[in-house]
Amino acid sequence: MSVQKSVKRITTHVLREMKMKGEKIAMLTAYDYSFARILDEADLDVILVGDSASNVMAGFDTTLPITLDNMIYHAASVVRGVKRALVVVDLPFGTYQGNSKEALISAVRIMKETGAGAVKLEGGKQIIESVERILSAGIPVMGHLGLTPQAIHKFGTYVVRAQEEEEAKRLVEDAVLLEKTGCFALVLEKIPAKLAEKVAGMVKIPVIGIGAGPGTDGQVLVVHDMLGINQEFSPRFLRRYHNLYTEIKGAVQAYIDDVKSLRFPNEKEQY
Ligand code: KIV
Repeated sequence: MSVQKSVKRITTHVLREMKMKGEKIAMLTAYDYSFARILDEADLDVILVGDSASNVMAGFDTTLPITLDNMIYHAASVVRGVKRALVVVDLPFGTYQGNSKEALISAVRIMKETGAGAVKLEGGKQIIESVERILSAGIPVMGHLGLTPQAIHKFGTYVVRAQEEEEAKRLVEDAVLLEKTGCFALVLEKIPAKLAEKVAGMVKIPVIGIGAGPGTDGQVLVVHDMLGINQEFSPRFLRRYHNLYTEIKGAVQAYIDDVKSLRFPNEKEQY
């Protein structure tokens, strides 16, 4: 039996075992109770309460505006819908960079107020003190390298990262440092597939890719993107498993027609 099927609850330890046995890890985002329940009951391994909530839930252009209180609201809702998956929560922009004490306070709030299993932070060497301090409190940390959307104003563009040798070298160093410091897993976003495969082969912790090719230990997508709720976003790496935008719009139009033409409610739909 696979590691994933043999356990009642997915933990950081289980993910490590999955990597050792060559079992791929499936991760998606969720931001609310109803979606989280469906994902968990479908047997997803990891649910990420991503700060992409800032885009897909709140309608902002970037992930920067979302607050710690917003993330706690989303994460607590998700946790109430989950029995089995590991729930990881993004620390939002401005709550951990440059001040490791504040980072610890933010991470502790997430763990205490949501019941999640781990936090995720973007960056390598420049945030290592924050990572160390959070880990010292016994809170599992997932790293995130490559395209780190909280730094979008520094990058100035959402193009593929680490294509140049120097940035690729820095990314490898950061990955090794995050592993050495004690991170339990790593997200690599939008980097060349060969580089992602190399990193996954170098470190013992699971590496989850998004737009990073098939050579990582698992994959993550934003659930609204893979279900086709968000039609405007269509990068090359995205596979759409459904076209929910069209389905939901069609259902809403049918409801409007029924109401206006007095077809709803019918005799059986009343008291
Ligand atoms: O916020 C998010 O959804 C993420 C994933 C894209 C990895 O960080």
